[in-house]
Amino acid sequence: MATLFTQYQLKQYAVKNRLVVPPIVCFGYADKDGYVSEKHIRHYDRLAGGGAGIVIVEASCVNKDARLSENQLGIWDNAYIPGLSKLASVIHAHNAVALIQIHHAGLRVDQNVSDTPLAPSDITVNSGRRAKAMTKEQIAETMEDFTRAALRAREAGFDGVELHACHQYLICQFLSPVTNKRRDEYGADKAKFAVDIIGNIRRACGNEFVIGIRMGGNDPDLKGAIGYAQAFEAAGADILHISTGYKDYKPPDLDYTENEHYNWIVRSGILIERYVHIPVIVVNCVRKPEQAAYIVEEGLADFVAAAKGLLVDEAWLAKIQNNESVILCDGCRRCGWFIKPETCPHYRV
Ligand SMILES: Cc1cc2nc3c(=O)[nH]c(=O)nc-3n(C[C@H](O)[C@H](O)[C@H](O)COP(=O)(O)O)c2cc1C
Ligand code: SF4
Repeated sequence: MATLFTQYQLKQYAVKNRLVVPPIVCFGYADKDGYVSEKHIRHYDRLAGGGAGIVIVEASCVNKDARLSENQLGIWDNAYIPGLSKLASVIHAHNAVALIQIHHAGLRVDQNVSDTPLAPSDITVNSGRRAKAMTKEQIAETMEDFTRAALRAREAGFDGVELHACHQYLICQFLSPVTNKRRDEYGADKAKFAVDIIGNIRRACGNEFVIGIRMGGNDPDLKGAIGYAQAFEAAGADILHISTGYKDYKPPDLDYTENEHYNWIVRSGILIERYVHIPVIVVNCVRKPEQAAYIVEEGLADFVAAAKGLLVDEAWLAKIQNNESVILCDGCRRCGWFIKPETCPHYRV
């Protein structure tokens, strides 16, 4: 039986355990140009120091005009490589696999960043802003942005990248029928945009480079998400990370009975894992180490990620071993870490 402490062989990496630090943007840490700051370095040192086997650095933007916030971490230019390499080093110093999430906001670009959001199809968003359907040239350029970002990540010393294909951002917008109404091949096969990006990164970065993808387990529904997961595996993805897609509610075809160990989002990851041969990370509301341990010990998922749980107390693994209780996240209505980490009641650097 595997436990949270069991090693996992991910390609050439012996991942030391099954706990993952998922991507967590901290907009308060970068300046308006998106460079890595001293605060970032201390922050990732603390998180990786908790001992998780994989640490995924926060959503880093592949194009300056596609940022979610003016102070989002950047990976759109070689000038970012020296700062990013410090993050990769600090994570490696704790013997964790270092991945970085690469991201394009699409129609959710910040108003101060661009007043012409791009999306798969013309769409008016709730705020009344209109996004323009991408031309074939813009699609090709954006794919190039992802490939170049992955090459920069490799140059900075990361072991791989995670494509941000969930939470309503650009890749997710291509996957969702709500936002992808294209009549060309990217509409007929909604996975194509992501599949092509995976293939391009594999060709550019080589076989040893880890390619992960974080996708919704609920969009268009569970069956559709399973199809996407299989397409990503066939395209060369090495690891899946299951969160929510364009929609944020439970799909009708997901069978889930409320229980103390995990919610329906984790359940979607557990079910998707049964249909692929690559490892799956599950995430969402895993707030206690006991929940993570249960999921792995029952053989439900290969890896478990915890965001807010590890933000407030990164020392889960040591505390399990010493039989100590962890500090629990208060579940604030809006997590302070997005904008002002120091407003978290349990803030420590
Ligand atoms: C402050 C904050 C920043 C986040 N940033 C990202 C991000 O950069 N990329 C991403 O895919 N998800 C991001 N998320 C979502 C988390 O990775 C995670 O999926 C979510 O918080 C649910 O997990 P939890 O209940 O363990 O916190 C963020 C969440 C929080 C609270
Ligand atoms: S700010 Fe609140 S929700 Fe966010 S990690 Fe801290 S306690 Fe949890």
